[in-house]
Amino acid sequence: MDSPKQVPPPWKAERPVTELSNRKSENIDTATVPEIINILHDCEEEMFIGWQNYQRLHDKDFVKKLSEVSKYAAALIKNSADSAIILSGCGTSGRIAFFIATKMNSLLRERGLPQCFGYIIAGGDRALTHSVEAFEDSPGAGKDELIKVAKGKRKILFIGISCGLSAPFIAGQLHHCMSHLDTFLPVLLGFNTIHMVRDRTIEGWDHTLLTVTKHLMLLESSGQGYILNPIVGPEAITGSSRMKGGGVTKLILETCFLTALSYLSVSSDPKDNDEINADKDAANDSSKQEKLITSLFECYKQVWETSYPTSKEQLSKLIEQAGKSLLDNGHVYYAGWDTWGLLGLVDASECPPTFGSDFDDIRGFLKGGLAPLESFPQTMNAAVGQDPLEDETSLEFFKKSVLPSITAKDTVVFLVPSNDANIYHELNILLKSVMQKTQHIGVISSLLVDETQLDLKSCTVVPLGHLKEEMINKIQDGGLDSELGNVVVKSVSELALKSALNAISTGAHIAKGKVYQNYMVDLKLSNSKLLERGIGIVSRCAECSKEFARDAVMRAIYRTDDIASFRDTPVSSIIQTAGNVERVVPIAIILAIKGCTVREALDHQERAPVIRTSLLNLLQPPSTIS
Ligand code: F6P
Repeated sequence: MDSPKQVPPPWKAERPVTELSNRKSENIDTATVPEIINILHDCEEEMFIGWQNYQRLHDKDFVKKLSEVSKYAAALIKNSADSAIILSGCGTSGRIAFFIATKMNSLLRERGLPQCFGYIIAGGDRALTHSVEAFEDSPGAGKDELIKVAKGKRKILFIGISCGLSAPFIAGQLHHCMSHLDTFLPVLLGFNTIHMVRDRTIEGWDHTLLTVTKHLMLLESSGQGYILNPIVGPEAITGSSRMKGGGVTKLILETCFLTALSYLSVSSDPKDNDEINADKDAANDSSKQEKLITSLFECYKQVWETSYPTSKEQLSKLIEQAGKSLLDNGHVYYAGWDTWGLLGLVDASECPPTFGSDFDDIRGFLKGGLAPLESFPQTMNAAVGQDPLEDETSLEFFKKSVLPSITAKDTVVFLVPSNDANIYHELNILLKSVMQKTQHIGVISSLLVDETQLDLKSCTVVPLGHLKEEMINKIQDGGLDSELGNVVVKSVSELALKSALNAISTGAHIAKGKVYQNYMVDLKLSNSKLLERGIGIVSRCAECSKEFARDAVMRAIYRTDDIASFRDTPVSSIIQTAGNVERVVPIAIILAIKGCTVREALDHQERAPVIRTSLLNLLQPPSTIS
């Protein structure tokens, strides 16, 4: 593979790739549903083929670095009595951290190894299912959480995930790690180059994201830290890192840890596990490991790629149904088993901050709920009880408390991962009950599922792709045993599922008019990054200066035309207010375009509640509206 063609590092800020509008999706708001699927496919493809001349996933330098991190992880797994691997992130990045930590711990348990993965999500476990965005701004909160989770550990691999390299929460943690290098190996995972990292002052802190990242870059040169930052291009919905940002995070971390496990040769007798020799091949066989990493990337690509043609027609139908549900003020429910159910929860939880939707608009439910998952400290989330019937994340809760109120306006999507008689039995009963309530039923299934076991008449069945035999052989030749091979089969289909779920929730919100061009025009301004993003969107939609847009946003937040007294309000206080006010960005756009009063903008919004239509009305004569 080619070596990366890195941009020279003048430390001047330019718009980060993760905040750019993707040219491929500029017209996603006017596209038909099959066209939306094509656009999402083209934007996601950049995960694998890269973007412009920046470092790609497959580039030699990136693969080498990932292999080094993975070697370190293997050594910690081997000595896990006083070691830990801690993954941390905000929003979707924190949910993916939880997802991976849970999955890896259960894999270690199955292999007779101590569970050494931990996770941190900004805002605590409530943020696994709800939008809790403000903590992203706090380096202090990040550090405090890390100190708690790291207690009693002598060696820690810390991986801070921030797709935009933009979360002060993660910067606070990395700064702590870099002050305690005897304990921590700090790693930053994200998808911008370092010269795009913001140098803006962080309230109550005397470092910036750029100073922290540059410090880490220096440490990298002596192997005391790593920055993993392949560039995967702008998101299809501008700034929405829940999409490919989340997907590529999952892919990179799973690849890293599965490769780490391939370093360990585990005795077939669990009693002999202390004879695991992590160093065996690790020192002299780097190129083999790098090859394995590349093959694993190919596995993800193959299944992701083949899922598009196999699922496109049925997925279009499902997106149309979901869009109709949201337009009719109905709901979309994902109900799933195992990791597939968890990915449904992850997809649903990011809709309120992204699209300004209600928590109930799109919801996910998982068989058994979050509580039984190994990594989950139950005491931390008030929404999750011991009893699945009381746990609002569980399929049991769905049956008891949601199913009775389902109407013909709602869409229910079942997520079926595997060939399992218990799942078939439970699903057939559920299908019968749901069919009595609504005709909008989807079933997304892996190719492992035997559809003849299911009563799927009148359901929209979306089959995903499956890993080819030759690829399985390739990774097994590369060092993965058959048990790890099975984990790969599962993991790669999860990425395809994640893409399908993103397509459903994004497509449904496009239908509801929550996207203009490729901008999320009703996002919640609940942290400083989102506030800046909101101001940028107003400035672009209204074609006005950033200063003018900022004033419009402030007027929309405080619902007053006189904002003189708010000029010196700290950002933390602005976002605290903004997070609780509806329709800030749409109102600000109207203010900026019409030059009207807040009262008039609110009246306008009320008369034309569909945001995209209202914007088009303002920007173009009605006869030209598509
Ligand atoms: O603040 C909201 C958000 O943009 C989420 O959409 C995203 O999942 C989270 O921040 C984390 O972003 P990042 O990974 O870039 O730090």
